[in-house]
Amino acid sequence: MKVKMLDLSREYKTYKKDYLNVIENVFNQGAFILGPIVEEFENDFAEYMNIKHVCGVGNGTDALRIALLACGIKKGDEVITTPFTFVATAETIAQTGAKVIFADIDEETLNIDPDEILKKITPQTKAILPVHLYGNPCDMDRIMEMSEKHNLIVIEDCAQSIGSLYKNKQTGSFGKCGCFSFFPTKNLGCAGDGGAIITNDEEINMKIRMLRAHGAAKKYVHRIEGFNSRLDAIHAAMLNFKLKLINSKNERRREIANIYNKIINNKIVRQKTQNNGQHVYHQFTIITEKRNELRDFLKKQNIDTAIHYSIPLHKQEVFSDYKNEIYPISEKAVNRVLSLPIYPELKDEETIYVAEKINDFFR
Ligand SMILES: Cc1ncc(COP(=O)(O)O)c(C=O)c1O
Repeated sequence: MKVKMLDLSREYKTYKKDYLNVIENVFNQGAFILGPIVEEFENDFAEYMNIKHVCGVGNGTDALRIALLACGIKKGDEVITTPFTFVATAETIAQTGAKVIFADIDEETLNIDPDEILKKITPQTKAILPVHLYGNPCDMDRIMEMSEKHNLIVIEDCAQSIGSLYKNKQTGSFGKCGCFSFFPTKNLGCAGDGGAIITNDEEINMKIRMLRAHGAAKKYVHRIEGFNSRLDAIHAAMLNFKLKLINSKNERRREIANIYNKIINNKIVRQKTQNNGQHVYHQFTIITEKRNELRDFLKKQNIDTAIHYSIPLHKQEVFSDYKNEIYPISEKAVNRVLSLPIYPELKDEETIYVAEKINDFFR
């Protein structure tokens, strides 16, 4: 049996008619960038997230960059984040002129460790940027407590965590801003690049709206330097359709995770779900010293796997200024994590096959 990490064509086959209908509707309306269909998505997404404002942008990376700038992050500031994430998290901090400060992760949840954040707070610290890695919520009680005590802005990277809850509250709705990616492989994906920023802050929302459209509050009236980072109507139309399915799709991911958890030998370590958190399994990740051997073995059984991520950010060439810094837990994790196939259309028999082959390897 061949098991792919992800096969988007299965989803397309199921919803082909619906996708073509909503896309046709965009052509009928003739508004392709922002406009009423994007507004409809922003309103529905706001309702889903239980938040006042949503602003659709070009991608998740821009969501982070624009949120940081809208929150006033600038040269001379320090922003604390995890070195165990996709590069966009830290790259966008650096692009504001602020200094990236890494804090190591928790060995079990693989998310930024609040105790490590605490050690990195200085008078220059302006913000904390936690990432809900693989869809596993961070310890938001501790992070929000710290932000209040030290007067720090929290900007959540929710690129992988749409629909994941901490104490029954949506990730992304704790901090000043929550930043989402609708990259096609994400739990809520569109047909290209897309992203959104959520906030309850009226003033920040106004700034975000200006920043995404050349700094203009009104057409051709430019108050600040901005970007061209707007959500396209075709993507918004698809997202609006898919938003109605997201809870059931995330539920199916949890079902698959349960199958893995039941069958895979208990001795094999998996990413631990944060206490009080509800994971949405953008990735299902196991942690083993024999990662590379296991990956090769599974490849021979026709099973695809992935490594998120194989290099911690402080060891990336782009962050060479940090190369002598040491984050032992992240450095261990990059050699041990292995993401298994997980997506709503993955079949039970495929999941069982993967789980059994993993057990065969460790037998
Ligand atoms: C944790 C994290 N942050 C940010 C991003 C950036 O999102 P995008 O690819 O939509 O720019 C991603 C996307 O892979 C991500 O996984």
